[in-house]
Amino acid sequence: DDSLRALAAPSGLRIGAALNTDRLADDATYASIAADQFSTVTPENVMKWEVVEPAQGTYDFTAADQLVRFAQQHGQLVRGHTLVWHNQLPSWLTAQASTLSATQLRAILKQHVQAEVKHFKGKLWQWDVVNEAFADDGTLRDDIWSQKLGDSYIADAFRWAHEADPQAKLFYNDYNIEYTGAKSDAVYAMVTRLQAQGVPIDGVGFQDHLDTQYGTPNLQDNLQRFADLGLDVAVTEADVRTTLPVTSVEQTAQNSMWSQSLSACLLVKRCISFTVWGIDDGSSWVPSTFPGEGAALLYDDAYQPKAQYGVLQQTL
Ligand code: XIL
Repeated sequence: DDSLRALAAPSGLRIGAALNTDRLADDATYASIAADQFSTVTPENVMKWEVVEPAQGTYDFTAADQLVRFAQQHGQLVRGHTLVWHNQLPSWLTAQASTLSATQLRAILKQHVQAEVKHFKGKLWQWDVVNEAFADDGTLRDDIWSQKLGDSYIADAFRWAHEADPQAKLFYNDYNIEYTGAKSDAVYAMVTRLQAQGVPIDGVGFQDHLDTQYGTPNLQDNLQRFADLGLDVAVTEADVRTTLPVTSVEQTAQNSMWSQSLSACLLVKRCISFTVWGIDDGSSWVPSTFPGEGAALLYDDAYQPKAQYGVLQQTL
C-alpha cells in the first residue's frame, strides 16, 4: 500500500484533505481517492456558520453529519472547520450586525459556538475555533468580531468550545503565519497571552496556502517555535498555486515547496496532521479566488495524480 495515509502511518502523522460533500456523494472516483489516501478529513465548507445555521435558531447539520459518517467508515479523524471567522457568516447575522450591542453579539456567538460544538461532541479530533483573526501587519483584523468585542471574543470562544466538548483539540488557525514576520509574531504573542490566562488552547493551524511567486516560507522554524510553547501544530490547508499555464520552472518550484512543507511537519514532533485543501485541480478554490492561477493540488482535473503527489510519497 503506497497511499499517502499508509506511508505516513509509521510516523504517526495524519495526512488529510478538505472534502466537498457534494462531490463525495455523486463522484465515485473522488470518494475513493478521499477514502484511500487520507487518514483525516476537513469539511471544506459544510461546518461553516452560514451552512449550519441558515436562519437564526434553525440548524442544519445534514451535510456535516454525512462527512463525519464517511470519516468514521474509513477510519479517518475529523478536523472541525470553523467556528469563528469573518467570512461565510449567515446573512441573518451580517444584516443585523451593525445594530447589535456588544452584549447581544457576544450572546449570539456563544450560542453558535456551543450549539455546534455540542452537536459534534465526542466525534471530532480538532476544531478550528478561531480562524484568521489577524491582518497581515499583525494587528487584529478589522471585522464584525473585533469591532464590537475587541480581542475578548478569542479567549471566550476557546472557553465556550472547551465547555461544550472537553475532548476536542482546540486550534487557532491562520494563513501567512508560515513566514516569520509581523503576523506570525502577533499570533505567537496572542497564544502566549492565552496560555498565561489559562485559556484552553491546544494548537495552532498553519493554512499553508502557498504561491510560487512568493517563494518558500521558513515553515519549520515557525512550527517549532509554536510547538516549543507546549502546543500541537498542524498544516491545515496546504496547496501550492502558480500562474497558468505552468512552466517547467514553476513546476519544479511547486515540487520543492510541497516537499519542504511536508518535511517541515515531519521534522517537528508536535506537528500532528498535514491537510491539503482539496483533492483535484478541477474543484480547487484557487482558480475562482486568484484569477489566472491554479494547478495547486495533488491531482489534475481528471483525477490523475500529478508529480506533486509523487513528491509527497517520496517525502514520506
Ligand atoms: C474556502 C473554500 O475552499 C471555498 O469553497 C469557499 O467558497 C470559500 O472558502 N481559508 C479558509 C478556508 O480557512 O475556509 C477557505 O475555504 C480558504 C481560505
